[in-house]
Amino acid sequence: MCGIVGYVGSREAAPIIVEGLKRLEYRGYDSAGLAVQRGGRIVTLKKVGKVSHLESALPAGAITGSVGMGHTRWATHGEPSEVNAHPHLDCSGSIAVIHNGVIENYSSLKKKLIAGGHQFLSETDTEVLSHLIEELHKAGGGLEQAVRKALHQVKGTYGIVVMSSHEPRKLIVARKGSPLVIGFGEGEYLIASDPSALIRHTRKVTYMEDGEYAVISAEGISTKTLDDVTIQKSVEELSFELDQIERGGFEHFMLKEIHEQPETIRNALRGRLQVEEGEVKLGGLEQMREKLISARRIILLGCGTSWHAGLVGEYMLEQIAGIPTEVEYASEFRYRSPVIQQGDVVIAISQSGETADTLAALREAKAKGATVLGIVNVVGSTIARETQGGVYIHAGPEIGVASTKAFTSQLTVLALVTLMVARAKGLLHVDYKLLMKELDALPEKVGKVLDGAARIREIAGELKNARNFLYLGRGANFPVALEGALKLKEISYIHAEGYPAAEMKHGPIALIDEHMPVVCIVPKDAIYEKVMSNVQEVKARRGRILAVANEDDDDIGHLAEFVIRVPRTFGFFGPILNVIPLQLLAYYIAVARGTNVDQPRNLAKSVTVE
Ligand code: F6R
Repeated sequence: MCGIVGYVGSREAAPIIVEGLKRLEYRGYDSAGLAVQRGGRIVTLKKVGKVSHLESALPAGAITGSVGMGHTRWATHGEPSEVNAHPHLDCSGSIAVIHNGVIENYSSLKKKLIAGGHQFLSETDTEVLSHLIEELHKAGGGLEQAVRKALHQVKGTYGIVVMSSHEPRKLIVARKGSPLVIGFGEGEYLIASDPSALIRHTRKVTYMEDGEYAVISAEGISTKTLDDVTIQKSVEELSFELDQIERGGFEHFMLKEIHEQPETIRNALRGRLQVEEGEVKLGGLEQMREKLISARRIILLGCGTSWHAGLVGEYMLEQIAGIPTEVEYASEFRYRSPVIQQGDVVIAISQSGETADTLAALREAKAKGATVLGIVNVVGSTIARETQGGVYIHAGPEIGVASTKAFTSQLTVLALVTLMVARAKGLLHVDYKLLMKELDALPEKVGKVLDGAARIREIAGELKNARNFLYLGRGANFPVALEGALKLKEISYIHAEGYPAAEMKHGPIALIDEHMPVVCIVPKDAIYEKVMSNVQEVKARRGRILAVANEDDDDIGHLAEFVIRVPRTFGFFGPILNVIPLQLLAYYIAVARGTNVDQPRNLAKSVTVE
């Protein structure tokens, strides 16, 4: 949520900043801005909308300088406008701040500063920081002391970069609750809220921790805690490649990421699913294995798509591994004083590993004594670091704002965890090796579903003008219905609802008429007949049925206007296949309606504010 890029070195800062911001644009695209040190003053440029607007407004040669910073914004306080875009300056124009997060006590700080004569231009919480630093700078002690003192007065979350024309060769960065990473180049440093903005320049990085700040100049970097204690940071190597964060010939990142799924699911299984040996090995859980196996209860936490993955996980863990499992919206869990008891294991599911609500819920659970684990995509992210163990999903960078490949990889990892636990508890009633082989076959089966993309595109053309959609599924496919509806809402702006198929007759059935597309997930599993009855109920009300059904289902064609075929698999692995057509359907409908698929309105990847 919001993107930050900073540069200190000997090259021109502005082009490096703009290029980095473009890579971070999926985090927010309401406005963009930059500031560069030039001839003893700070030069800024801000534009509403995408980074390309900022880029085309850059006057050739006018914003030169080798120390600078930039920001792409997802509006929290104040509408998207030039005046609210970052960087924010102090009254004298000599201190500039960019900020991710929310300053919760900005209102009281602002009142005091205004009473002291400061003049504010924007409606943002961030501008308070520039004026507060200006105020504290007056007392002497330099920029570093002013920033440190200001951060002691601030409540809320931040990842900030500060620069000042009083000390023009340095940037000061600080973190509390909003990620920041520093990249080490040859005689230069780069700062970003996400390493994807740095990888073109360096693979060597260090991650800032909460409560730390760093003073960075071309000559070096010093890192301290806010209490002024110097710390030595370790340098890590980034593990992804540049081409993983580029579109690679696809029209959109989302389409690329949908098509990557055979590979990403394989990556989630690699080295872990050992079919020949009949073993599931999850190195990141090794130390917590006993706690997990003997868990009294598992609580899965997440938001949005990751919460949907948790819902599928609940079916898996309860029915196969026999562990009572609850799934909670992280944002609800943290504020309802959850009762945590001995033997509770909390698993946070998060693609980004930075979602503010998930992180806060995890901390709450940890503070109350739960064993906390993570199922996370971004290596080195805050959630990954704050859990006691976990499993990376290894889906690679997900840039499309609508999550696709992360979802199927989360399900794959949940399936692995379930098999590991069930096996250890001796609970499997079906042949374990058979299940392993079925899991192993999923990447190929996903490939088969993707081969049907052209047909899904045609169906999307038929349904693109509908005003509402209903998605129905039962059992582990109920969360798939939720996920299909979420994808459609997010990127096509069509209202859609997911429902348990049988629950439909308790209300939503009133909505069904000949204009209503009803997407029914009807795999040939143990509850096939039940779902078919629900499909009949839709048919009787003349709903437009689009069925996701197995290849060998000869009956569904009599009921459905459109049928998308998926290969058969074991029941609990079904969601991994059944969601793929729904991702493609949402994608092609959005493209047909001309929306911005990768950067849908009002959304941002990685929600780092509560
Ligand atoms: C939907 C989507 C969001 C995220 C949610 C959680 O397509 O992307 O609903 O799933 O914001 O994000 P993570 O998984 O990063 O915690």
